Amino acid sequence: MDYLEIVGCQKLSGSVKISGAKNSALPIIAATILSDKDVTLTNLPNVVDIRTLLKLLTMLGGEIKHHDTSAIINNNTIISTKAVYEIVSQMRASILVLGPLLTRFGECEVSLPGGCAIGQRPIDLHLKALEAMGANIEIKGGYVKAEAKDGLKGAKIIFDKITVGGTENIIMAAALAHGTTTILNAAKEPEIVQLCEMIASAGVKIEGIGTNELIIEGTCGKPLEFKPVEIIPDRIEAGTYLCAGAITNSSITLEKVNYQHIRSSIDKLESMGCNFDIKDNSITIYPTKNIKPVNLITTEYPGFPTDMQAQFMAVAVMAEGESLIEERLFENRFMHVSELNRLGADIWLKGSTAAIKGVDKLYGADVMATDLRASSALVLAALVAEGTTKVRRIYHLDRGYDDLEGKLSKLGANIVRKKELLFKKS
Ligand code: EPZ
Repeated sequence: MDYLEIVGCQKLSGSVKISGAKNSALPIIAATILSDKDVTLTNLPNVVDIRTLLKLLTMLGGEIKHHDTSAIINNNTIISTKAVYEIVSQMRASILVLGPLLTRFGECEVSLPGGCAIGQRPIDLHLKALEAMGANIEIKGGYVKAEAKDGLKGAKIIFDKITVGGTENIIMAAALAHGTTTILNAAKEPEIVQLCEMIASAGVKIEGIGTNELIIEGTCGKPLEFKPVEIIPDRIEAGTYLCAGAITNSSITLEKVNYQHIRSSIDKLESMGCNFDIKDNSITIYPTKNIKPVNLITTEYPGFPTDMQAQFMAVAVMAEGESLIEERLFENRFMHVSELNRLGADIWLKGSTAAIKGVDKLYGADVMATDLRASSALVLAALVAEGTTKVRRIYHLDRGYDDLEGKLSKLGANIVRKKELLFKKS
């Protein structure tokens, strides 16, 4: 297995280009199932999760020409509607094929995604909403078997909790449904907006884009013809690099970033003492030597994102004073705490809240990544730790960060990917 070896205390400088958003590309790739024509996607991030979902579409029979950050997908050749465990267990967002397969083909079998390190991650809200649209849903042998022989019907859906994936599945299901679907308490992340805009570009009438109430008029089973889609910049990757500037007290510039999508992260970094120069397509961070402590509560967009919680915790470790971070979305998203403490942090957990006492120094050590965003937090901490840090199990990182070590070393970090020697040389 690969690991990253990082020698800390290097200042960073220069600029970094932000890649396309993984969490926008995934539902958009799933939405290509709604079409029987070529769909062109550009600005795809070069990350494992994208390759995994494209592989799933190929296994179903789709034809994909994927080169670098672009792909042309044609799902007119799909011959199977079974998303097998081998793929879904690698990437739970594969559950996003459920809505499109069901509404396009009237039946499908999708493996239950199972939990992950950060929580149980149920899909009950997805299934309840599809049943409200007339689907017969059966859970058997670890699979969701869904059927809607006469197609899905428009319905009024009220989500008990705001769910990004649930909203995405139902938007896609509603696009080809018979009649109008209203979704109340819908998620309104930028990824949801881009998905709605893509579906609307094919002529589907959608009202309320960007709000918690969506009204979607289905095409009664008629497949869609999409215009080319350029994936939006990754707001979480952007936030992660801003945290890299803040924690190393370095001024760096982010290119190809959408300020509107990361306002909550910028607002919090400003409260910690950082300043920013915000232009149309770039943001420069001017950090502060004395980082102020911060209080964070994770919540749905446009509030402070749970996907930035671990990265801000790493910055808070170096603050002058005590910070509090409450994780409200996932029940187990503090796996990075014990690893940060191995580097010399002073973090205590009480239920869903972490208390972070700022320290003067961190010291390099061997640490282990446990999930995607936790691994980026460990890399951030390693950038300022004295000495060498080895971050292991970085397959977590490769799922969602496009060339993190390449981009960081271009900014001046001393970071190298190495292969784990299976047998230590005697
Ligand atoms: C998406 O996951 C993102 N993944 C996650 O990013 C992100 O953390 C999450 O939204 C919240 O913003 C992708 O977009 C691929 P949810 P998703 O459904 O859709 C509960 C990353 O690091 N819930 O909004 O799975 C659920 O347990 C990843 O890039 C139910 O109870 O998240 C959680 O507590 C990690 N029943 C809350 O809702 C359901 O049927 C929010 O989950 C569905 C969700």
